[in-house]
Amino acid sequence: MGENLSSGLGHLFEPRSVAVVGASERPEKIGYKVLANIIADGYRGRVYPVNPRHREILGLRCYGSVDDVPGEVDLAVIVVPAEQVPGAVRACASKGVGFLAIITSGFSEVGRIDEERRVLSLAREGGARVLGPNIFGIYSARASLNATFGPGGVRSGGVAIVTQSGALGVAMMGKTALEGMGLSAVVSVGNKADLDEAELVEHLVRQEDTRIILLYIEGVRRGERLVETLERASRAKPIVVIKSGRSRRGAAAAASHTGSLAGSDEVFECIMKQCGVMRAETVDEALAWCKVFDVAGRPQSEDTLIITNGGGIGVLATDACERYGVRLSDDLPALREAFSPLMPSFGSPRNPVDLTGQASADHYRRAFDAALDMAGVGAVVSLYCETAVLVSSEFTPVLEGAFRRYRERGKPLVFCLFGGRSTEEIVQVLRSRDVPVFTEPYKAVSCVGALYRYVRGLAAPVEEPVRPDIRVDRIEETVGAARADGRRFLYALEARRVMEAAGVPMPKSSTAWSVEEAVASAKRIGLPVAMKVVSRDILHKSDVGGVALDLESEREVVEAYEAILHNCRARAPRAVVEGVEVMEMVPPGVELIVGARRDPSFGPVVMVGLGGIYVEVLRDVSFRALPIGRRQALSMIKDTKAYTLLLGVRGEERRDIEGVMNVVFRVGEVLRRCPGISDIEVNPLRVYPRGSRAVDVRILLSESSTKEGSDAHE
Ligand code: COA
Repeated sequence: MGENLSSGLGHLFEPRSVAVVGASERPEKIGYKVLANIIADGYRGRVYPVNPRHREILGLRCYGSVDDVPGEVDLAVIVVPAEQVPGAVRACASKGVGFLAIITSGFSEVGRIDEERRVLSLAREGGARVLGPNIFGIYSARASLNATFGPGGVRSGGVAIVTQSGALGVAMMGKTALEGMGLSAVVSVGNKADLDEAELVEHLVRQEDTRIILLYIEGVRRGERLVETLERASRAKPIVVIKSGRSRRGAAAAASHTGSLAGSDEVFECIMKQCGVMRAETVDEALAWCKVFDVAGRPQSEDTLIITNGGGIGVLATDACERYGVRLSDDLPALREAFSPLMPSFGSPRNPVDLTGQASADHYRRAFDAALDMAGVGAVVSLYCETAVLVSSEFTPVLEGAFRRYRERGKPLVFCLFGGRSTEEIVQVLRSRDVPVFTEPYKAVSCVGALYRYVRGLAAPVEEPVRPDIRVDRIEETVGAARADGRRFLYALEARRVMEAAGVPMPKSSTAWSVEEAVASAKRIGLPVAMKVVSRDILHKSDVGGVALDLESEREVVEAYEAILHNCRARAPRAVVEGVEVMEMVPPGVELIVGARRDPSFGPVVMVGLGGIYVEVLRDVSFRALPIGRRQALSMIKDTKAYTLLLGVRGEERRDIEGVMNVVFRVGEVLRRCPGISDIEVNPLRVYPRGSRAVDVRILLSESSTKEGSDAHE
């Protein structure tokens, strides 16, 4: 956990000197605001305004070019118009500036991709790292550096914000100040030409003052690296993410179910869960979580207690607990023993503990103390509806005092106060003193839910990925043959060969060229069997009478064989018949879909969900980035409603969930190790109490067989 300033990103967050290239003396200019913030917020290093038109700005000597600056420059903030940026970057690079924060807009975000690349390569020539372009700057509490054009007077604290959106980032700086939240860093990443979230998180997670990391992400690039970083980092510090853009652009172009189900947002959601990162729905919720993570302890036991002075708000909070996965303590004898003596006779010691509208500040104080001593209670949500009985001047110190006692003991206590002006006053006072107080029960409970999710994630051991043995040589042979044939997909028999080489359980099958062979195959496979014509020229086999099902005797097999050939000759006379496939009749079972594909952001991903013909209607699917271990495989299955079916409904036997996991691992491994394959979809995978069968398999090939996003790093 050591911090080495001269390596990594140390000097970005703690520069010894900062140049502002394009500093201005006109207060309406961004180049003025940045310089003014640096000075006003107390940066202790050397500051060099750079602008050929001035000799002095804001009382500091101004340099014509960064080359003229006498000493070393660790960080240059660039605020000149886009066409001037390459020149400014070249000058910084030749001076040996370590980091460039390029505020200027007008690069890849408006399609000027080549210009952005040029800027990056100029920076690299001098070994400089680039933040941006198109950013609002960087704030770092460690250096008292506010090199942004956001608000000044930022309060220092434990939350680091890394944001892709500039406007929202600036607004979050303002909002956190208003909510009394302290920040350790705010980094705007903009177009992420060079530095991205992964590298910044990597640094921030090792930085002592940062206790929570909040990411605002619009789009993910280099997703495989982000996953790897977040999985590790979230074990050290809580990471909260907000993502905008529930786009299905990528999905529209995809040719398989797996593709169209993989709306980039669903994949993102699942993968954040896989990484132990908590995704908030709104900015407000994210900030609330950060606040609670920063100031409250971590629950030591699973049960939560609600203390209230109103039944209605207590019920709302109870509903919220169900929604956010917060378990309520229901140890009635313990609750009775703790609370009956200290509440009005008509109060209720059940959870929510109702102190009634007559509750005084002292009732609350005693209830808090009792709950603090209950070992089975992991967290407390305290609710208050404004009443005329309770004197607010007495209440504020009771709440603050209780919060401090809980904090010392590491037990989370969050408040929800609901009422008019006098309540609002209490809220403001408590907020300014770092007490987590909300005005909406759902919000308070959502914070407790986030705490629990984090703690549960930490409790889960780090696991090894499962990488089953598969016959890559055989798979590549099949793929190569299809490619030589000019195809980007595999025929059913080829897909079967791939699945067999991967060890995925397929229905037993063999191809017969004579009636005798058909009978022998049927005997070997075991009756009843199904039979299907094998012909690349016949797409819809049942339409021409090329399929026969449920053949229960040898005689039926003979008749079916002859009927299939006769029908095909009559109804598709030009089709080349390559035999008749004899297949095991697969009994009904729980139908799942298992897929794997290359996600444009995250690389190889696997999918599992409810299969059959309604997959796209029900969209009951879950994703994970590869590779995954057993716990993740099980958790992705549990994410779907199909899991309930696998457990067995109405006395049905539990299905072979292990078997499903095995198929997920194997299908995933094929995708990971065979770059020639872009999509695999098993639908349905029929799952039985013992075993499963991949009834239908579709495999698509990549545009080229280069090692894109596969195991090139192995
Ligand atoms: N070196 C040093 N200073 C230079 C320079 C150079 N090569 N070229 C120009 N300057 C000076 C200018 O003289 C000017 O100073 P002045 O006010 O004393 O005349 C200053 O740099 C700024 O140049 P100006 O032409 O006035 O530009 P501007 O301030 O109107 O706009 C940006 C510059 C960078 C702010 C603008 O191009 C931009 O990108 N704005 C959007 C920023 C943004 O929104 N970022 C994303 C946020 S999330």
